[in-house]
Amino acid sequence: DHRARIQALLGQMTLAEKVGQMNQIAGGRQKSLNSKLDAAMLDRVRKGEMGSFLHVAGAEPLRDLQRVAVEESRLKIPLLFAMDVIHGYRTILPVPLALAASWDPKVAEQAARIAAEEAWAAGLHWTFTPMVDVARDPRWGRVVEGAGEDAYLGSRIAEAQVAGFQGADLGKGMRMMACAKHFVGYGAAEGGRDYDSAEVGPRTLNEVYLPPFHAAARAGAGSFMTAFNALDGVPMTANAELVRGFLRARWQYQGLVVSDWNAIRELVNHGIAADAREAAVLALKAGVDMDMASGSYATYLAEAATADASLVPLIDEAVGRILAAKARLGLFDDPYGFGDSARDKAPLRRTEARDLAKRSVVLLRNEGAVLPLKPGAKLALIGALADDASSAIGSWRARGQATDAVTLKVALAGADYQPGTDVAAAVETAKRADVVLVAIGEDFNRTGEARSYADIGLPDGQAALLEALKGTGKPIVVILMGGRPLALERELTGVPAVLQTWLLGIESGPAIAEILTGKASPGGRLPIGMPRRTGQSPQSYAHLPTGRPANSDLAVDSARYHDTDIGPLFAFGHGLTYGEIAYGPLTLSGETVAPGGRITASVQVTNRGTMAVEEVVQLYANDPVASVSRPVAELRGFARVALKPGQSRIARFTLTPEQFAFWRDGKWIIEAGDIRLMAGASSADLKSDARFRITAGTEGQAPAA
Ligand code: IFM
Repeated sequence: DHRARIQALLGQMTLAEKVGQMNQIAGGRQKSLNSKLDAAMLDRVRKGEMGSFLHVAGAEPLRDLQRVAVEESRLKIPLLFAMDVIHGYRTILPVPLALAASWDPKVAEQAARIAAEEAWAAGLHWTFTPMVDVARDPRWGRVVEGAGEDAYLGSRIAEAQVAGFQGADLGKGMRMMACAKHFVGYGAAEGGRDYDSAEVGPRTLNEVYLPPFHAAARAGAGSFMTAFNALDGVPMTANAELVRGFLRARWQYQGLVVSDWNAIRELVNHGIAADAREAAVLALKAGVDMDMASGSYATYLAEAATADASLVPLIDEAVGRILAAKARLGLFDDPYGFGDSARDKAPLRRTEARDLAKRSVVLLRNEGAVLPLKPGAKLALIGALADDASSAIGSWRARGQATDAVTLKVALAGADYQPGTDVAAAVETAKRADVVLVAIGEDFNRTGEARSYADIGLPDGQAALLEALKGTGKPIVVILMGGRPLALERELTGVPAVLQTWLLGIESGPAIAEILTGKASPGGRLPIGMPRRTGQSPQSYAHLPTGRPANSDLAVDSARYHDTDIGPLFAFGHGLTYGEIAYGPLTLSGETVAPGGRITASVQVTNRGTMAVEEVVQLYANDPVASVSRPVAELRGFARVALKPGQSRIARFTLTPEQFAFWRDGKWIIEAGDIRLMAGASSADLKSDARFRITAGTEGQAPAA
């Protein structure tokens, strides 16, 4: 039993050693990921002043470093080695938003598994993934790191990522401890400005921003990271109400809570602490167990706890959780159980990387069946992004190398290529082709941390290039790359085919080429709507109704824009296939259901086309009359279904009244009444619907997972 061991250790630890466990510092030289530390740092490890290192790697250096902790320090407590292993370690896979676009939790799980296996081989224990922040504002650069705008889809992807990273048992096999981040509201930063404050009402917090965290906690995520931002004026790294109140007390979460980078010291900048000492005390009181990189715990906590004995039990609690994480990972029993030099040099996992990449592509438009390309068609390939290996692997690339990436230019070697910097030359090349493929969008450096933009149109003169190419009259296929949905209403007008390809990792080029040529079929869907214009952000399909609905027949003023449509250009859940899918009626197993019961919704889908496809069948719900306004539609089920030509299959969804609970007056409530279900191919393409009735209400009921 870990508890006895931890209690015994706590009994032997000095206050300084306890605070040492709560200290996480970046090790090695980050660029080369060389984890050989200098003598002064090793001495701190020997003295028990370090609990964890981040941004370290390498089977051999980490073994040497661990040896100092477990053989040369007084209490022989192993170190925790952490890194942002986000979408691959050596084999770089599609960025998280792209993986979510697969609408297939198995894809997210497999990606996490591959990353965990490689990172495990490099001696790493802990990854700062998944980022489960719901993001409804694509101006925010970190939209690339999450699963998009929806809490339900985000929760399913979060669970899958936790399972993939941690494996069946956090103590055995090739595994990494996951970290659900950034708790909470980081994706709701005002104006999409990274690190900025968020204002989220209690209902939206509970129904939209918290559920993916709750899902990750229920899936057993070993750790959580507090966010940089303030929520309703209280920085999350000092937010006792949410960290102690929700995460610990309500959800009974037992895992380790780490701050974000330097976020404890930054409480001073937030204006809630006079100095780093006060900041350290506030974070400890809020329930933050480990200080990432600010050094505030290491510098001030022992002295603060000597002056104020009430802090000692809080320190014991935090250290207990850090030691429990180490025990759960099996580090006390086998501190060298991670790392395998031979495996660390194993070949890249290209087949899986390509498969995952193909499954992440979304076909947004395909007028006149431009795609798949006809065999023998003469192709022009225009755009610098087609030749940008570094962008293919995105940001947070761990030990990935741009040279490992196969670009679209390489994969389509038969096409006439022009980078597009010389527009006239690009136009000449286009004129000679049957079809013009235009790779445009954003390079990897425009999304990620601290990459907010006030204008999410096409950068770098690409709009002018596209306009000029449109002028040739040739059929154009836009291959949209990047880590966020861009606002391209005007730019995409007159473009018959658009493929959203994100940043797909080392097999980016071959994966896109297979989709273009029809060797593979696109089956992904947007995990976040694409606005028409930047000014529509933030936006979600799951908005509340208004008294004057947009686009209604009301002659009076309604909730709309005068200069564009209210809705997105491409809606949440949108994505086409190379098939032609017919939806049957939505049928229910009954007309009523009581709390605690279940009801099944079924819909038949048929592929009337000539190619094998995968259709993502989506189920949305709406509570038409409740004591509070409810979203016009909320995703409550989805299934990616493979369909051969002519094949029909039935997608079935089991629902419980708990899934229709809402947050009111500080608790979950189920109200008796009708629920309307809608099945379809996207949030804006609902094909059939049905109603059932919840027969009785309850209060205080937790929502279904
Ligand atoms: O994990 C990250 C976090 O998402 C942003 N700040 C730095 C951390 C560690 O690299």
